[in-house]
Amino acid sequence: MENKKVMLSGIQPSGDLHLGNYLGAIKNWAARAEEFDCYYFMADMHTITVRQNPADLRRRTLEQLAQYIACGLDPEKNTLFIQSHVPAHAELGWVLNCYTMFGELSRMTQFKDKSAKHKDNINGGLFTYPALMAADILLYQPDFVPVGEDQKQHVELTRNIVQRFNGIYGDVFKMPEPYIPKAGARVMGLTTPDSKMSKSIPEGCVFLMEKPEDIQRKFKRAITDSDTENCVRYDPQNKPGVANLMNIYSAVTGKSFEEIEQEFAGQGYGKFKPAVGDAVVEVLRPIREEAQRILADKAYLEKVYTEGAQKASYVAGKTLRKVYKKIGFVAR
Ligand code: TRP
Repeated sequence: MENKKVMLSGIQPSGDLHLGNYLGAIKNWAARAEEFDCYYFMADMHTITVRQNPADLRRRTLEQLAQYIACGLDPEKNTLFIQSHVPAHAELGWVLNCYTMFGELSRMTQFKDKSAKHKDNINGGLFTYPALMAADILLYQPDFVPVGEDQKQHVELTRNIVQRFNGIYGDVFKMPEPYIPKAGARVMGLTTPDSKMSKSIPEGCVFLMEKPEDIQRKFKRAITDSDTENCVRYDPQNKPGVANLMNIYSAVTGKSFEEIEQEFAGQGYGKFKPAVGDAVVEVLRPIREEAQRILADKAYLEKVYTEGAQKASYVAGKTLRKVYKKIGFVAR
């Protein structure tokens, strides 16, 4: 463990996991377990920046953990935990709030978007959220933070905080690098191929736990092109819908774009779309079944998140103690 590079990421349990989360993030994380020392957490503290239904939040947090494991994140090889179980996040979050500038927070696009969307609840947490995210990251001294494009700005802000803090107190935090997956793994909405797959557009979003018939229906209704060519060809500029389906098909089957073009030569979208649907159904089937099995085993889940929080607290505690000492807090 000692010499492995550290990787950390979180997902907010504010919605059900979908194919974009799996292909763009979780699947790649699972493949890194041997090479890196990995920490993944359910960012429940972040979700309450937007009002949540308590029962749903609790259920989704556990479902998300079960789904992470079912997607291949082995709790023996990765540290999986629930953010609110490790109090150091809240503690360092407060400290870093005091090293994050109002102007910096004001420039965050996610804050601007979310405050425009939730005009009746523009709370302090929504604004200072990036300081908590910086704490999430820096507690574990990671080398890499795998995030989607939309979170890159927050990782950049974290880097500014590191520079500011280390500039005052010496080498306390390791400088983290954002780790953005290749464009190939970026899954777009089936009905909106110009924007990424999102739970907020459910018709174009394939959820991990969805029934095969529903998945098939969504693929059959996927947007292809407005052109009349009806030909499976990789051209993201002019045929973004087809390119997205090819990306998905390639990600789940391992076939190259040329192989896919050959496979469907002369067959048109009518054959292609259900074939992508079938391939996705087969990839998600064992994940769904495994997630359901794990979710039914409450004792196992509890063991995973309890042990995960213990391991995480140990590492996070070391960083927090160092920070407290540097800033002048009396040791407890
Ligand atoms: N902000 C991230 C999102 O909304 C989730 C998150 C919280 C996160 N803390 C993190 C991601 C730390 C990476 C590292 O998707």
